[in-house]
Amino acid sequence: MRHLISPLDFTVEELDEILDLAGKIEHNPEKYAHACEGKKLATCFYEPSTRTRLSFEAAMMNLGGNVLGFSSANSSSAAKGESVSDTIRMISCYADICAMRHPKEGAPLVASLHSSIPVINAGDGGHQHPTQTITDLLTIKSLKGRLGNLTIGLCGDLKFGRTVHSLIKALTRYDNVKFILISPEELRVPSYIREDVLKANNKEFEEVVTLEEVMPKLDLLYMTRVQKERFFNEEDYVRMKDFYILDKKKMDLAREDMLVLHPLPRVNEISVEVDDDPRAVYFKQVQYGVYARMALILTLLNIKVD
Ligand code: NCD
Repeated sequence: MRHLISPLDFTVEELDEILDLAGKIEHNPEKYAHACEGKKLATCFYEPSTRTRLSFEAAMMNLGGNVLGFSSANSSSAAKGESVSDTIRMISCYADICAMRHPKEGAPLVASLHSSIPVINAGDGGHQHPTQTITDLLTIKSLKGRLGNLTIGLCGDLKFGRTVHSLIKALTRYDNVKFILISPEELRVPSYIREDVLKANNKEFEEVVTLEEVMPKLDLLYMTRVQKERFFNEEDYVRMKDFYILDKKKMDLAREDMLVLHPLPRVNEISVEVDDDPRAVYFKQVQYGVYARMALILTLLNIKVD
């Protein structure tokens, strides 16, 4: 039995298979419409979510399966003091696979150690978000045609943004990927990302503060919101929240074929005037998230559709 806790849990070859399967699903969804009949997905969300939870549920429904779960810690027995390991033991009796989001880093890992069904990390604190990464890789591969030979700018809250941490980890495994990390001093990537991920893998990267200076160099711009819920005080958040606002003027500095991604939700960091730019692909990315999660569910349940 396999779980998905870290973006590196699959080899590059296995990930390629998942991305290929997602592509097949995109082009022929009917073929997969009954693949998970009789199967149940539990979504255990101890932290707010719109996209991740609903896209998991939509993915399972598109495969003909059923879903059950909870969408906040308050509406689960966690409010009564139940541990994650007890909860997953019980969920294992109800469902065939579980997607879990938790504010504590490592909680889905703990769950996986006590689970008799596959556990998917749907985001753990400021740590990792591997299914957003599969979504991002699918978006990049589908719209850019490649996962190597890219200069990617990651902009915003690189300290607390788990989508950024997971995407950097995943992209270090492809050739000739250059990282430009764009953040205020206070929100730079954690040192383990700089030392153990980027430097340890000999990856080319630079850290800058302004977006304008690097726009012309980028193949991809990955925008992120400032992670309000992970700040210790409101004052720091207020000071940081509008640090970057991507607008038409800044888009004019970018290449014709640069793509803008964002895991969403967006707050102020991308002006709505950018939404109509053909290079803005963050809403397409949401659709890729459903195909990616369908492919992941089939893979973890070991269901093959010929
Ligand atoms: C992200 C998350 O939850 O980390 N959202 C998502 O899953 N698409 C990004 C965010 O909340 O900023």
